[in-house]
Amino acid sequence: MIALDVIIAKDVNEMSMTAARIMADLVRKKPNCVLGLATGSTPIPMYKELIRLHKEEGLDLSRVRSFNLDEYYPIDPTHNQSYRYFMDHHLFDHINIKKENTRVPDGRTKDIAAHCASYEAQIKEAGGIDIQILGIGSNGHIGFNEPGSAIYSRTRLVVLTERTIQDNSRFFDSMDEVPRFAITMGIGTILASRHSILLANGKYKAEAVAKLAEGPVTSQCPASALQLQEKATIIVDEEAGSKLERKDYYNHVRALMSQLQK
Ligand code: GLP
Repeated sequence: MIALDVIIAKDVNEMSMTAARIMADLVRKKPNCVLGLATGSTPIPMYKELIRLHKEEGLDLSRVRSFNLDEYYPIDPTHNQSYRYFMDHHLFDHINIKKENTRVPDGRTKDIAAHCASYEAQIKEAGGIDIQILGIGSNGHIGFNEPGSAIYSRTRLVVLTERTIQDNSRFFDSMDEVPRFAITMGIGTILASRHSILLANGKYKAEAVAKLAEGPVTSQCPASALQLQEKATIIVDEEAGSKLERKDYYNHVRALMSQLQK
């Protein structure tokens, strides 16, 4: 069955716990799994829960490999707004994943095309991504695939939209400091993962979530491509889910599916 699985959690905490549980179940079942990871404020509580599971419940991530979705360009990995810095700070430094098994696109590469091709090759060599975590930009972007990104796109350099630069300026000292480019996995790279999990919370994301789940599949809303993926789960809080028209149906599906699993 190809259908987006939409989970409307009551709040950010439930959203984050649900996603962390799915990831932890995978790590227990397949200790050498490949995780696709995302940055942004949305996944931070989920990472906190993974850290707790590691520290308090012995979740072993020593054989896990990871690939991050994207990185600004140009940016030094030591910059406190680089996505490499974010991942070390919010997750990798607090769990037992081996740093050498974590990949984030290199914001300093001189040969962008070769670096992107090698990123794709490394994902393939690792056996493909088992779970890809995603956030969503207010304009519907996933990773840094801005509206207009082709469904078959692969890892490449992209030019950020004014809206994304504006959205992300809150993390930088000034607008001028926000990088104008990024290296991102493509929509095709994301769709090639075995399971995508997109998280969104807050009213500001409601419009993008409704378009992604219930609008047409269109490059104008890159996240809508998830409607084509064999397994994709959207986990939102009530605010981010507030513009979904088929809310009752999603809740109905969840209730019946959980009865079936008992
Ligand atoms: C950036 C990242 C995206 C992320 C988005 C939303 O643009 N490249 O991967 O989903 O921000 O960020 P936030 O979770 O902070 O709203």
